[in-house]
Amino acid sequence: MQKKHLSGSGWETQDQILPSPFGLRPGSAPLPGSFISFEGIEGSGKSTQILHLADRLRQAGKEVVLTREPGGTALGRNLRSLLLQASDPPPCPMTELLLYAADRAQHLEELIEPALGRGAVVLTDRYLDATLAYQGYGRELGCDLILKIHSHPPLDRRPVRTVLLDMEAEVGLNRARVRNTFEGTTVSEGRFEEEQLGFHARVRDGYLLLASQDPERYRVVDAEGGIEQVAEKVWDTVRDIIMDVS
Ligand code: TYD
Repeated sequence: MQKKHLSGSGWETQDQILPSPFGLRPGSAPLPGSFISFEGIEGSGKSTQILHLADRLRQAGKEVVLTREPGGTALGRNLRSLLLQASDPPPCPMTELLLYAADRAQHLEELIEPALGRGAVVLTDRYLDATLAYQGYGRELGCDLILKIHSHPPLDRRPVRTVLLDMEAEVGLNRARVRNTFEGTTVSEGRFEEEQLGFHARVRDGYLLLASQDPERYRVVDAEGGIEQVAEKVWDTVRDIIMDVS
């Protein structure tokens, strides 16, 4: 595979980082529900937008299961503390990757698969692509091992649509830091927000590369507009897959 230069961070993908063919196809048997993930760098507004979409779908009469990673289950909430709270020394990149995968396996078994099985719309704030972007690209572990781990049930479940809320890393990071200061979350869950700008630029570039590799599943939304304006764009990216909602 040819090396590809990604603008912004000056970071280049390496042959071993991006496997070819990329292999992000659904593995598990289809279920009646709709599985949609939201992704983006810190401060990109995912949490606000996912709530907005959930409200709109509920008003349209849909059963919506709104969840997030890490921490969509009781076990996951314990893992979330281990992953996001500052610790000295911090988890090494491989530990981090395996804890996110553990959180996801439990999340799928306990919450996502049953909800999809009964026909619900599952909206998750982060999923597999976050591991590819943060651990694969941000921590530079590469995508091969991550995809291998995620080829085993239940981890082989893929969203039908992934909405990437995209913005410059610097803009998102500043927004996240301001939000944390106001909410007082800097100390408790800010481990990733303490990373240097270069890390977040790699994450953003990783997401954009993932999106370009899988245009059928991904929709990239410019997240720098106002909340209502972005919400309309998000709606347009999912309405086609939630067939009977106009
Ligand atoms: P969260 O507070 O939910 O952040 P945000 O509001 O920005 O989504 O914390 C989740 C953090 O965990 C976020 O910094 C991204 C990181 N993360 C990974 O590094 N890998 C993963 O697989 C997932 C799901 C999240």
